[in-house]
Amino acid sequence: MNILLAGGAGYIGSHTCVELINAGHSAVIADDFSNSCPEVLKRLEELTNTKIPFYNIDVADNEKLDKVFKENKIDAVIHFAGFKAVGESCEKPLMYYRNNLDTTFALLEVMKKNNVTKLVFSSSATVYGIPESVPLREGMKTGCTNPYGRTKLMIEEILTDVSAADESLSVVLLRYFNPIGAHKSGRIGENPNGIPNNLMPYITQVAVGKLPSLGVFGDDYNTPDGTGVRDYIHVVDLAKGHIKAIEYAEKHTGTEIVNLGTGIGYSVLDIVKAFEQANGLKIPYVIKARRPGDIAECYADPAKARNLLGWQAEKDLQDMCRDSWNWQSNNKNGYE
Ligand code: UFG
Repeated sequence: MNILLAGGAGYIGSHTCVELINAGHSAVIADDFSNSCPEVLKRLEELTNTKIPFYNIDVADNEKLDKVFKENKIDAVIHFAGFKAVGESCEKPLMYYRNNLDTTFALLEVMKKNNVTKLVFSSSATVYGIPESVPLREGMKTGCTNPYGRTKLMIEEILTDVSAADESLSVVLLRYFNPIGAHKSGRIGENPNGIPNNLMPYITQVAVGKLPSLGVFGDDYNTPDGTGVRDYIHVVDLAKGHIKAIEYAEKHTGTEIVNLGTGIGYSVLDIVKAFEQANGLKIPYVIKARRPGDIAECYADPAKARNLLGWQAEKDLQDMCRDSWNWQSNNKNGYE
C-alpha cells in the first residue's frame, strides 16, 4: 500500500516510515517541521535507499493536503500530526485544540473527497486518565488530566462517530504507552526541543554531559520502589504495530481501539539501573517532589493487539536502553 504519513518526520512517524518500507509498502510524508527538521528526511532516504515524496505543508490546510492526494495514489493514512507536550498544552490549550483537531478534520475531509477509507490514529495511554486499576484494557474508563490528553480523547471520539456514519471507513486508534529507543543504526531517534520532559531523553542528555543530573519525580508512590511505573516500549516495535494496524484496516471496516505496550511496568529507578548496566555508564540522580499530574502506575494489557493484529513487542529493556544511547551518543545535538 501507499501510505500518507501525516506528521511523518517526527519521532514515531520517522520510525514507522522505515518499517513500512521494510515491509514492502511505500510512504508519502506531509509535515511542517514544527517538531522535526529536514535532516530527518535525508536520513530516512539513506536508511531505506528510497526516494520518499515529501510535502512541507500544514496538514490542517485542506487545499494543500488535497494536492498531496491528487499527486499521489494514497491507499491509507497514518495520522501523527499533533502537538504532544503535556506541560505546553496546559500553557497554550487553544493552540493544542486548534492544531490537533484541525489536522484531523482536514484529513477526514480530504480523505472523503478522494475516496480514501483507511485511517490509523496516533492516540495515547493518556486517555485512561487516572487509572482505577492496571493493567489497562481498551474497554476501561477514559478521562483526561490535561488539554493534550483531551485532544487525543476528543479525536478518538470524533473518529468513532465519523466511522459509525460511514460504513466504508476503517479506523484503528492506537493507544501508545511510553515509546523510547531508536533505530539500531543510530541515524534517527527522539529529538526533543530544549530540556526534555520525558524520562529517557533526559537520562541520555545526562549521560552525554548536557545536563548535570536526573531529577526523579517522587519516591513515595505506592509502587515497589516508590517511583512511578510505566510501560516502556521500543519505538521500532511501536512502528511495527502501525504496519499491522494498516494491514488490519485494509481488510476490515469500523473502528478498533488497540493498546500498543509491552504489558510490563518498570519504575524510574529500574530504567536508571537498566540504562547504567546496558551502557556501562553512571547516571547521577536526585529525588525531587512529585510532578503535578503524574500517576503512580500505567501499563498495558497488550492482549488485544496480539489477538486482533497479531502484534506483540519483541525488544526488551536492554535493547531500548542501548538503542537510546546509541542514538544520543552519535548525535549529541540531535539532528543539528
Ligand atoms: N520522570 C522523572 N524525571 C524526569 C522525567 C520523568 O522522574 O525528568 C518520571 C515521571 O515522573 C514518570 C516517568 O518518569 O514516572 C515517565 O515520565 P515521562 O514524562 O517520560 O512519561 P509520562 O508517562 O509522564 O508521559 C508519557 C508521554 C505523554 C503521555 C503519557 C501517557 O510523554 O505524552 O505518557 O500516555 F500522555
